[in-house]
Amino acid sequence: MKISAITKLSRKASDSLVLAYFAKEKFSSHLFFKLLKNSEKRLVEQYFKNNNFSAKQNEVKVLPRVGQGKILLVGLGERAKWNLRRAVLVARQIVVVAKAEKILQLSLPFDNFVVVGVTDERLGQTVAENAVMANYEFTQYRTKPEKVFSVSSINFFTLAKSYQAVQKGIEVGLIMGEQVNLARDLGNIPGGEMTPKLLAEKARQAGKQNKFKVRILDVTEMKRLKMGAIIGVAKGSAEQPRFIIMEYNGGKKSQRPLVFVGKGVTFDTGGLNLKPGKNMNDMHLDMLGGAAVIAALSAIAKLKLPANVVGLVPAVENMPGNAGYRPGDLLRSMSGKTIEIQNTDAEGRVILADALTYAERFNPEVVLDIATLTGACMVALGLQASGLMTTSSSLQAELMAVGESSGDYVWPLPMWEEYEDEVKGTFGDVQNDGKNSPYGGAIAGAMFLKQFVGKALWAHLDIAGPMKTFDGQFLAKGASGVGVRLLVEFARKKFDK
Ligand code: BES
Ligand code: MN
Ligand code: ZN
Repeated sequence: MKISAITKLSRKASDSLVLAYFAKEKFSSHLFFKLLKNSEKRLVEQYFKNNNFSAKQNEVKVLPRVGQGKILLVGLGERAKWNLRRAVLVARQIVVVAKAEKILQLSLPFDNFVVVGVTDERLGQTVAENAVMANYEFTQYRTKPEKVFSVSSINFFTLAKSYQAVQKGIEVGLIMGEQVNLARDLGNIPGGEMTPKLLAEKARQAGKQNKFKVRILDVTEMKRLKMGAIIGVAKGSAEQPRFIIMEYNGGKKSQRPLVFVGKGVTFDTGGLNLKPGKNMNDMHLDMLGGAAVIAALSAIAKLKLPANVVGLVPAVENMPGNAGYRPGDLLRSMSGKTIEIQNTDAEGRVILADALTYAERFNPEVVLDIATLTGACMVALGLQASGLMTTSSSLQAELMAVGESSGDYVWPLPMWEEYEDEVKGTFGDVQNDGKNSPYGGAIAGAMFLKQFVGKALWAHLDIAGPMKTFDGQFLAKGASGVGVRLLVEFARKKFDK
């Protein structure tokens, strides 16, 4: 999709125009109203007068034009309640409606979206990235993908004084939206195909395209490094594990890197503690933390951020099998600590343990891990937010702010030392299920990970809740690409300007 800021409008009736209104706004006050032909103006007037359109939130009416174009009357709800979160949804909804109406090209007025306290650049980016996200469909497995309609271009009408900022925002937004969609593609590929090997190949491709370094460790190299935790989880599968290392060096040599660690379980059956019934159905998405890290590195490289960023993705398949790891097994992790396996379905934290240890080699300033780690986090926060768990209050505040502005919303859960006992092992150093499981399961997961973190500031993001899109988000069914925007914006905020 092409998106550009424009400062001149055309009066062609073949153009499709978005007229977005706040409730109780005068219909003739809209910037685009004067572009309409007289008969079109009367039509809009009728819609308002007959209460066919009252500009409620989520309300959209499609009107024909004299030419081939259409008029989208879009409701923004009460002006007093307008904010960036609503702008995200409206941008997506407009694209979803345009797709349904088979509109190829669309003009949007920037003025309609202005949010108090949000810069023109940020707003331009938000609208652009969400338009790109809404335009996405997973089509690789359709025999006739060309039949899936998508919007091809959006003109974003801005006043001259905002033009540069909006255009810059759009450019960033396009990159961001496309990389979110990359993460969704990786997630949506079925588990039978998206093996650790394929995930590693996808990372290598991303590195080649965007010029960052990628190194893939196979099981022999992992053995040499004594990554007993990752190897332990992988044992039940015929697919061999991979350890993906990505390095983008856009900053000074002296600058300590950010390290992103993403869970890459390409399919999670639960292992010998097999998942019952439908619990297994979405488990091809259990590599979305890893996908977010791969896509975030791509975006960061495309944006040429003056930052040093490392991405680590332990990739395994969690299968039951006669070679599989067992409850009661004591795995020796790369850190030297032993992990007492209570439940083979708590595999994500086990593979992340070795990855967190490996992260120490880079002497990082901050380590962020991102994982579809626990069903308990979904119970706690629902689908709207990822769980944020950290021992640093400054990092917590930073990530909550970045969550809010990026659209990847996060909410904190406590990491009090009283919880530490949850993961003390009986025969091993650490156990992989909490003592009071399933109560506080998300926190127990984070407490486990904490045992493997070095000196760096660290935060854990549990993305189980928002990993899939849901009704009301105006996004195609499947993987959401959650976390990409959060990781990239975190790096931007830390190192840009
Ligand atoms: N991948 C799952 C968590 C998950 C569940 C993500 C549902 C998204 C949707 C994870 O590996 C898992 O199975 N966690 C267990 C941990 C438990 C055994 C301590 C869980 O949440 O039940
Ligand atoms: Mn599991
Ligand atoms: Zn899992």
